Amino acid sequence: MSEKKVVVITGASDGIGAAAARRLHANGHTVVVVGRSPEKTRTIAAELGVDSYVADYTRLDDVERLAGELNSAYPRIDVLANNAGGVFGTRTKTVDGFEKTFQVNHLAPFLLTRLLLDTLLASRASVLQTSSTVRFAKKLDLDDLDHDRNYDPVHAYGASKLENILFTTELHRRYHARGISAASFYPGNVATNFASDTTSPIMRFVRFLASNPLIRRAMLSTPDQGADQIVWLAESVPGIDWQPGAYYYKRRASKPRNPQALDADLARGLWKRSEEMLAKRLPDRA
Ligand SMILES: NC(=O)c1ccc[n+]([C@@H]2O[C@H](COP(=O)([O-])OP(=O)(O)OC[C@H]3O[C@@H](n4cnc5c(N)ncnc54)[C@H](OP(=O)(O)O)[C@@H]3O)[C@@H](O)[C@H]2O)c1
Repeated sequence: MSEKKVVVITGASDGIGAAAARRLHANGHTVVVVGRSPEKTRTIAAELGVDSYVADYTRLDDVERLAGELNSAYPRIDVLANNAGGVFGTRTKTVDGFEKTFQVNHLAPFLLTRLLLDTLLASRASVLQTSSTVRFAKKLDLDDLDHDRNYDPVHAYGASKLENILFTTELHRRYHARGISAASFYPGNVATNFASDTTSPIMRFVRFLASNPLIRRAMLSTPDQGADQIVWLAESVPGIDWQPGAYYYKRRASKPRNPQALDADLARGLWKRSEEMLAKRLPDRA
């Protein structure tokens, strides 16, 4: 059994995150669950008897409050799993003025990680991003991260999952030497509540197909299988068992199937734009 760790998992009220929370808790780690729905988050926390926090990533005030609560409650965080996310519907701007997919899937976890950075550095933490296959992600435009031009829910989702990989690359470049080990991964196609709110015809069709038990079994993994890489990356040793800064699929460091995901300048540019967008909420730091 691995060393016991403090593991914060976002998107832990359902799907892959909830499955990871169950496994890591069963393996003796101190798991902290974070969800959006208060009821669902309370239910999983009560099942496991662990601490829980609620934050809606469409509200950056919630993310700031969450970071403050976690910083106060946990002097040590060994693993932060940035797993919350989804594919949404018609183009919506959040109360903060950003496109919803971009904010929920990239900007909010970026802010949370930045606001936890001192604790993460002091803990020599692993920071994990649940990304996806980014094979079909279109060109990322740093001047249009909100998709003001040509919005499409699936494109916005693909862009945000590419941003998860680029964020990992730049987090690694900036902070690995100071103790942070970052990784992103593709969990495979997993039978969860994913895409249940979307109005995208493609994603609705995919969900319709997945509602057939035979297709579901043949094409999709279970949430527990989808959680495997969070559990493995959280429990194993970065630099020995896995390569910090890398993108993983089925426990193997893989080359994302999209050249943009390998573009270090794009990763730097995304970090810079994200900081500019969040300037009022971020402390000054190198
Ligand atoms: N399922 C797949 O095939 C697949 C494939 C590739 C990548 N992924 C990625 O895997 C991650 C987990 O998805 P899943 O498949 O487990 O889907 P899921 O069952 O729908 O779970 C999504 C989680 O994200 C949370 N969430 C959604 N919107 C949020 C918001 N506005 N603020 C805070 N939290 C929010 C949900 O909270 P509530 O339940 O409390 O609302 C839930 O805990 C996502 O990042 C997704 O992009 C999934």
